[in-house]
Amino acid sequence: MNKNVHFKGRWVLTLLSIIIVGGVICLVKLTGTNAEDIDTDLRAEGNQIYKDPNASVPERVSDLLSKMTLEEKIGQMTQVDRNFLRSEEDIAKYYLGSLLSGGGSSPAPNTPESWANMYDRYQSISLTTPLEIPLIYGIDAVHGNNNVYGSTIFPHNIGLGAARNPELMKRIGEATAKEVAGTGINWTFAPCLCVARDERWGRTYESYGENPEIASSYSTIIEGLQGTNLTDSSSILATAKHWVGDGGTIGGDDQGDTQLSEQELRDIHIAPFIDAIEKGVGSVMISYSSWNGEKLHGHDYLITDVLKQELGFSGFVVSDWAAIDQLPGDYASDVRDSINAGIDMVMVPEDYITFISTLRNEVNEGNISMSRIDDAVSRILTKKFELGLFEDPYTDRTYTPTIGSEEHRDIARDAVRQSLVLLKNEKEILPLSKDLNKIFVAGKNANNIGNQSGGWTISWQGSSGDITPGTTILEGIKNVASENTEVTFNERGVGINSSYDVAIVVVGEKPYAEGQGDRPNGLGLDRTDITTLNQIKRSGVPIVVISVSGRPLVMTDQLSDWNALIQAWLPGTEGDGVADVLFGDYNFTGTLPISWPRSEEQLPMNIGDENYDPLFPYGFGLTYP
Ligand code: GLC
Repeated sequence: MNKNVHFKGRWVLTLLSIIIVGGVICLVKLTGTNAEDIDTDLRAEGNQIYKDPNASVPERVSDLLSKMTLEEKIGQMTQVDRNFLRSEEDIAKYYLGSLLSGGGSSPAPNTPESWANMYDRYQSISLTTPLEIPLIYGIDAVHGNNNVYGSTIFPHNIGLGAARNPELMKRIGEATAKEVAGTGINWTFAPCLCVARDERWGRTYESYGENPEIASSYSTIIEGLQGTNLTDSSSILATAKHWVGDGGTIGGDDQGDTQLSEQELRDIHIAPFIDAIEKGVGSVMISYSSWNGEKLHGHDYLITDVLKQELGFSGFVVSDWAAIDQLPGDYASDVRDSINAGIDMVMVPEDYITFISTLRNEVNEGNISMSRIDDAVSRILTKKFELGLFEDPYTDRTYTPTIGSEEHRDIARDAVRQSLVLLKNEKEILPLSKDLNKIFVAGKNANNIGNQSGGWTISWQGSSGDITPGTTILEGIKNVASENTEVTFNERGVGINSSYDVAIVVVGEKPYAEGQGDRPNGLGLDRTDITTLNQIKRSGVPIVVISVSGRPLVMTDQLSDWNALIQAWLPGTEGDGVADVLFGDYNFTGTLPISWPRSEEQLPMNIGDENYDPLFPYGFGLTYP
């Protein structure tokens, strides 16, 4: 072709494409409406059906949606951690639909009242927006309202899995909901329905165990959290997480890759979500992990086709913390691919300005349809209406005094008792007599509320020490033993001698959360515990070991030195539940929700595997005669 003709042709094509693209942008701009484009009468008109509590939720949603600008819709899909608000006024300026407190993102002072005051202040700002849409506020209340100082801290999920008691889970859900509602907050990122298949995974303790049947049966906690009516002020929205397969990653690598056939994925990891959806769980959080190499946060088949369409999940889907950033490509493609995959709300949770502008551009460029935006916003608004937030947006302070109440602590103490698993009881040294002459207590986890509570307690990672009110295992022992019994405590075992009737050594793990708890290089006892145990062993006194840990630890070589072994998991604030069983006021009822390995080389090892040869099998647990 002659270059000149070619050149002219290109000019015409370029001009045409500018006209077409320009036309498309104008067209999209018109449909992607801005406040000034909307007929202000429509927004201000008297029949604000969405404000009528007697109208049906679908009517209220469609009425409100019809009044919303694109900016307001995008705001509803944006979740920000309170710590990253540049100013509280941004809540209204950007029409933010949701805030969260990530682990440890607490007001100062960290008291129930200041949480409620903070929540109410944020909510009042949200209600200054033109359409007065209330915030929904999320928090990881994963074993009680665990960010709040003084709240009841229940055993972590792995211990509850040992209890095999769905009714108990409902009671825990009800108590947790009240302690969350008492701070104003109306949404918890729980329960974690992860099925831990390799205990080297740092989140094993957030799982109810290796068998999906436990997590399925424990969907009763959702009934406790959400109540019979979401509108009740003691009800909060629950979250089934993390969709899907987070507990099945290779090597227990947190946020890693789960390599399974679709049928295996369905049988092991999807199954518990089916029960959760049947129980009406209001939200689902997506997993950081991948399935056969594809990140879940961009997985439209698993999120839209399976979760929303096949399983009929009608709540809203929230991303994990900055998880869309992990998708391949630039941030624009992260936003586009995650929203188009079916995520409805993005836990940004820091740079919300960039997220909002990126999402706006993607819509205006036609890369995300308005129907997808409207579907996401409708799902979010539906839950806000069902929660009654438009009628009762502020804290119901009648629940604030329930935080850390005796009633709730009694439920937690009962849960501790039911979570304990007796693995060895040589010559039936247990139950201990309350009238023993002399008891020696040792170990780094004997007198440490922080260690016995584990991660997700007051802070994200948790921490050792006297971090919140409760009863340590040592204090529980002192409370139960008779006044004639001399109870001596030394963390390292210094002072032990043959005059003691028994030595109770409380070993295990220090707090951790998520990937920081991954242990690819071994699950043995740490040097501190080994040293303490050796110190005690030299005295010749009978030894009762209690392991406070988020998973089974490898202690095969030391087991023969001990007369008894109890797995106490991560019991939380009510350590006296351990003494209740140790001294026989209650019998052991717990059984292992996870296989106990002889060595790390056996991992992953799960019930049903070929050549299954654990130290203690799934379902094992001794009782008193
Ligand atoms: C974390 C966890 C998730 C939690 C969220 C908010 O990274 O993966 O379980 O709900 O962030 O704290």
